[in-house]
Amino acid sequence: MGALLEEGRQRLLGKTDQPSQEAQILLSHSSGLTHAQIIANPDHSLSEKSTADFTGLIDRRVNGEPIAYLCGAREFWSLKLTVSKDVLIPRPETELLVERTLIRMALWESPVVADLGTGSGAVALALAKESPPTRIIATDRSDDALGIARQNSQQLGINNVEFYCGRWFDALGPKLKSRINIIASNPPYVMEGDPHLLQGDLPWEPRQALISGRDGLAAFGTIISEAPRWLTPSGWLLLEHGPAQQDHVRVLMEEAGFLEITGHSDLAGLPRVTEGQLPPPCG
Ligand SMILES: C[S@@+](CC[C@H](N)C(=O)[O-])C[C@H]1O[C@@H](n2cnc3c(N)ncnc32)[C@H](O)[C@@H]1O
Repeated sequence: MGALLEEGRQRLLGKTDQPSQEAQILLSHSSGLTHAQIIANPDHSLSEKSTADFTGLIDRRVNGEPIAYLCGAREFWSLKLTVSKDVLIPRPETELLVERTLIRMALWESPVVADLGTGSGAVALALAKESPPTRIIATDRSDDALGIARQNSQQLGINNVEFYCGRWFDALGPKLKSRINIIASNPPYVMEGDPHLLQGDLPWEPRQALISGRDGLAAFGTIISEAPRWLTPSGWLLLEHGPAQQDHVRVLMEEAGFLEITGHSDLAGLPRVTEGQLPPPCG
């Protein structure tokens, strides 16, 4: 096993920043052995099938396929989420959106919260895990993505998330209009033709999870302008965005009537989340 692991590591050199770690992850995935078992038993021989599976996974990784898709899983907010090529691979920086949303959720006893563009369900499920009595509504335009999100909710035993398919607010029934206290969304925000789309994991991820029109801002325009019709007075809208998009998001929120508009930066110091609140009820 030690020789096989080393062979895998050698093949990943120059293809990834973490060849040793990734070779171990793929060996663990194909053999069912833990990392500790792999390290402690370098002379152990793997079955023919596990060896072939490992070699196949290394081939695919050398070809650029994301490690999360190869293993079918990614951890987010300490939740092990199933992922497939139908969903964006949840990013660590999106945990900032969860943190900020939880702070706003604490303002209500039992808020109604919507996660628009839920993908794997990462944001909705993290919020639901932290706040089990809350009603959480998760939407996506992709039926396949919602299939993964539902699967994650079942695997994690999280029962307070409802899933709806459709474009942004079209996914929500008329009964919900003016009833949502908080909207959180990590929409697509990359512009068509952005060179980043050719780098790292991005070429493998769904286009509709990444690209939002020619300027990357189309989804913000729709969500921000329509949100006031769905939120209660004093309701909050929280959006993840690209580091260079904060000013644009702020202006759109001001135009839509949001107050208390505040930006937040991720651990790398990059502006990543902007939130705003609707005015309180009149009178
Ligand atoms: C950047 S991904 C975010 C996924 C997940 N919330 C996360 O943070 O990992 C954006 C998601 O929005 C969905 N989406 C794109 N356009 C949409 C639209 N018009 N209406 C609803 N969902 C949309 C995509 O299918 C994708 O799942």
